[in-house]
Order: sequence, then C-alpha cells, then structure tokens
Amino acid sequence: MLKTHITGEQLFEKLKNIKLGGTVCQYSLKKCQELVPIINEINDLKEAKNAVILAHSYISPEIIYGVADFVGDSYKLSKDALTTTAKTIVFTAVRFMGETAKILNPEKEVLIPAREDGCTLADSINAAQVRELRKQFPGYTFICYVNTTAEVKAECHVCVTSANVYTIAENIPNDKIYFLPDKFMGQNLQNHLKRRGLKKDIKFYHGTCYVHEDYGIEQILKIRLEHPEAKIVSHPECNATVVENSDFVGSTEQMLAYMRETEAKEFLMLTECGLSGRLQAEFPEKKLVGSCTMCRYMKSNTLEDILRVLKNPLPKDRVTIAEDVRLRALKSLEAMFHYNRSK
Ligand code: 13P
Ligand code: SF4
Repeated sequence: MLKTHITGEQLFEKLKNIKLGGTVCQYSLKKCQELVPIINEINDLKEAKNAVILAHSYISPEIIYGVADFVGDSYKLSKDALTTTAKTIVFTAVRFMGETAKILNPEKEVLIPAREDGCTLADSINAAQVRELRKQFPGYTFICYVNTTAEVKAECHVCVTSANVYTIAENIPNDKIYFLPDKFMGQNLQNHLKRRGLKKDIKFYHGTCYVHEDYGIEQILKIRLEHPEAKIVSHPECNATVVENSDFVGSTEQMLAYMRETEAKEFLMLTECGLSGRLQAEFPEKKLVGSCTMCRYMKSNTLEDILRVLKNPLPKDRVTIAEDVRLRALKSLEAMFHYNRSK
C-alpha cells in the first residue's frame, strides 16, 4: 500500500459521527471499505497530474474527508485557488465557483465534475439584464453576489461573498448601491446598514436560493420552545425574519467558526446539510437539533465524476471564459479584495 493511501478504518474514523438524512449521509465500516479504492485512485491521480481538489462545505462528506485538499466557503476557496501552485484545479461545488477560480487563474486548468449545472441564484439573472438595470439606475454602484456567472460579474463594479457583503457595502464610497441577485441578502444588507446608522440607498434584485428561502420563523419558534439552550445559526441567504431571530448569521465558514468557539452545545443550523455534516464530523461533542435541506447542485458532485474528469475531461467539464469577459470580471473580484478591509 502507498503511503498516501488510506484504509477503510481510517476513513470510517473520520465519517462515523455523520448521521444525516436516512441512508444518504451515514457511513458504516463496510461502506468506507467500499469507498476507499476510488478515493486512493483519485489521490494517486492528483499527484501524478499536479492537481488539487477544492470542495465547498456543502459537498458530500466522502469527498471532503477523502480527497479534498481545500475545504471552505466561497471566499476562502477563492483565496485558496489564488495560492495553490497546482496546474489543475478540480472544483467540487457549482459552476460559478469554478468560474471564479478560472477568472483568478487563467493559466490553470479548472475542471468541474458537478452533474447538475446550476444554482438558482446564479441562474436568476444574465448580463443583458444587468446592462438594462445599469441604464435604469445610473450613479449606483452595482454589487454582485459571488453566486453569479462570469458574464454578470463582468457587468458589475464589485463582487461580494456572504463572508464580506456587509463590510464591503459599508466601505464602498457611494451611498447608492444596487445589489444582485439575492433579494433576501439585499434586504438583510439594507437592515444591517440601517442598524449601523448608515444612510445608504439599497436597491436589490429578486433572485432567491431555493434551499435557504424555505426556512421560516416557525422552525425557529419550535426549536426555541423544545430546545431553549440551542443557538440558531443562519446564512444571509435566509429571509430577514429568520436572520433577525438568529443568534448568529454568517457565511458557512463563519457559521462553523461560531459553533467551534461558542460554549453552546446545541444548534439549529439554517443552511445546507453539508455544513451539518462538518459539525458532526469535526465537533462530535456538539449536537444538531432540527433538520437540514440538501442542495441538489452541490450534491451532484460524486467521486466517480471526480475520477472521470481527472482521467478524461470532456469539453463541458473544462471552465472556459472569453478573455474580455474574464478581464472585466477580474476587476469586480479585485474590487472585492480591495474593499474587504475595515475602515
Ligand atoms: P458560502 O460562501 O457562505 O459558503 O455560501 C455559498 C452558497 O452557495 C450558499 O448557498
Ligand atoms: Fe445556489 Fe442555493 Fe445551492 Fe448555494 S445552496 S449553490 S445558493 S442553489
């Protein structure tokens, strides 16, 4: 056995505490032993091809704990994509995250194994619609959420992620902001700036994330009644009532950091199931209450497809972006890194 190879027992040790959704995210020793050959084959190929695997926290646990080199939220992964010296990046997430890596690293091959090509936010607006809005709202700074296509980023002034949206909107030296495409994040941003006493005129688009839009105040009230000690942790893609009644709101990486650092032992997590899996695997002394929801796009990444794109990528697996679009989208990402600092 090669030094880099893992055994079924070692994989089981990492995954044994994950218990989510029927049989989908439950791992027996036998299941881990069955997963290990493909995991070891992928890890060998990565080395042979000078490739790294980036995985968003919503991806299946066997990918996160079996083959991923970098795991995190979209902001962390965009920085990881910048720092890696590997020739090839396999981005296990959704297309817009792979595109972000390609915008930042044009010389690298970026491969996307996801079978379901989409994200309800990224699919809710296109470049022509942004151009129309810019005509309707002259003088506004256009902020796009990272959950947008490269073409949409190219039409906007600044890109943000859930980890830095509030800081960046505060730091932008313009009181007129158009935020797109997430209407809930737009409302949450408006409320945040009001609370901070900042008089900014915030307009926003009407897109939603189909996972986060389903969470409501009733789930929070039920948990507050049944588990009064539990902390409610939510993502800013949730609606304003959910966000205002949560104990902590942040990007997926910030949610994990909060749960790691707080003394609390029970959590209702209003985001995709992958993050619940990370909590169970990494902080087994902490307990989840309530349920979670899966994102079908994120969960369409499989070990089989990672192996396939590493061995023999099809044209659709390779991220390609027209150079003029890439250069304009790069400006909005550079503006994000510039404004993401405290005043
Ligand atoms: P994060 O950047 O917080 O991980 O969010 C990405 C996402 O798609 C949430 O639905
Ligand atoms: Fe898009 Fe929602 Fe899935 Fe995140 S969870 S990738 S916003 S559809």
